[in-house]
Amino acid sequence: MLKDRHLIESNDFSLKEQEEIFDLADKIIAKQDAYLDVCKGMLLASLFYEPSTRTRFSFEAAMLRLGGQVVGFSEPGSTSVSKGESLADTIRTIGCYADIAVMRHPKEGAPRLASKQSTIPVINAGDGGHQHPTQTLTDLLTIRSMKKTIGNQVIGVCGDLKFGRTAHSLVKALSKYDNIKFIFISPPELTIPDYILEDLDEDDYSLTNNLDDVIKDLDILYMTRIQKERFFNEEEYLRLKGYYILTKDKLDTAKEDMIIMHPLPRVDEISPSVDDDKRAVYFAQMKFGMYVRMALIVKLLGKENL
Ligand code: NCD
Repeated sequence: MLKDRHLIESNDFSLKEQEEIFDLADKIIAKQDAYLDVCKGMLLASLFYEPSTRTRFSFEAAMLRLGGQVVGFSEPGSTSVSKGESLADTIRTIGCYADIAVMRHPKEGAPRLASKQSTIPVINAGDGGHQHPTQTLTDLLTIRSMKKTIGNQVIGVCGDLKFGRTAHSLVKALSKYDNIKFIFISPPELTIPDYILEDLDEDDYSLTNNLDDVIKDLDILYMTRIQKERFFNEEEYLRLKGYYILTKDKLDTAKEDMIIMHPLPRVDEISPSVDDDKRAVYFAQMKFGMYVRMALIVKLLGKENL
C-alpha cells in the first residue's frame, strides 16, 4: 500500500510496489483519457530549490493531466526562504495547503528532513549529489518497456559517477534485480562512491575509464553529464568536461539492440549525430518520466480505484 508514503531514496519501495507503479504507468499510457479526473480537487506543491526542466515540468504536467492542480516555486528566493525560514517550517506550511509535495534541493538529505516534519507525502526530486528516485522510476520503466525485462542486462554507467545522483539511485535500484552486471565507466577522479559499491557483489561489477573497450559488451549504455555545479574548482570541471563524447562511429561495435539512455540535460557527452540512431532512447525516456510520475502520484494519493 503506497498511500501516504514518502519517496526519498530509490529503494524505499519494494520491488512489488515498484512493479505496481510500472503496471499503472502502462495502463495510463494505453488509456490516458480514463485518468483525466482521477486527482480532481487535489493539489501538488512543487518546491524546486535547484534548477530543473524535465523533472519539474513532468511532475506538474502529470498532476494537471490527472485533473489536479499545482502550486509552488522554481525560485526559492521569491518565498520566505529568503527571510531565513527553515525547511521544517516551510514544509509544515505547505502541508496546510497541498496534498502532496515534490522537492528538489541542493543539500543532500533535505527531502528526508522535510519528510520527517511533513503531514503530506514528500517526493525527492533530487537532493544534491545523493539520489534522484523518480529519475530511477523513469529509467526502470524505460528499460522494462524497451527490453521487456529489467533483469539480465549488462549496463554501462558512464560519466560523472561521483556526483551523478541519477546513477547512484539507478545502481541501488538495479542491484535488487536478477543478473545485472554493471560496468562503471568514469574518469579516475569521478568514480562511483564506495557506499554504492558496498551493496554490490564483487562479481557483479567492474570499473574502467575506457568506454571504447567495453561498448561491445553492453545491453544498456547509461550516459551522464559531468555535474558542473558540484565541482569546487572550475578548472577541474573544464578538464573533465569533454572526457566522454559518444559519436556515431563509436557505436559501430555496439550491439544492434543496445539502448542508449541519458537522464538529460546533455552537454557534450552525446553528439547530436547519435540522436537518429535507433538505439538512442533518451527522448522516449523523457516521456516515460511523465507517465511514471502520473502513476506515482495516483498511488501516493490512494486514488487508484476511483
Ligand atoms: C538530472 C538531475 O537533475 O540530476 N536531470 C534530471 O532530473 N533529468 C541529471 C543531470 O542534471 O545531469
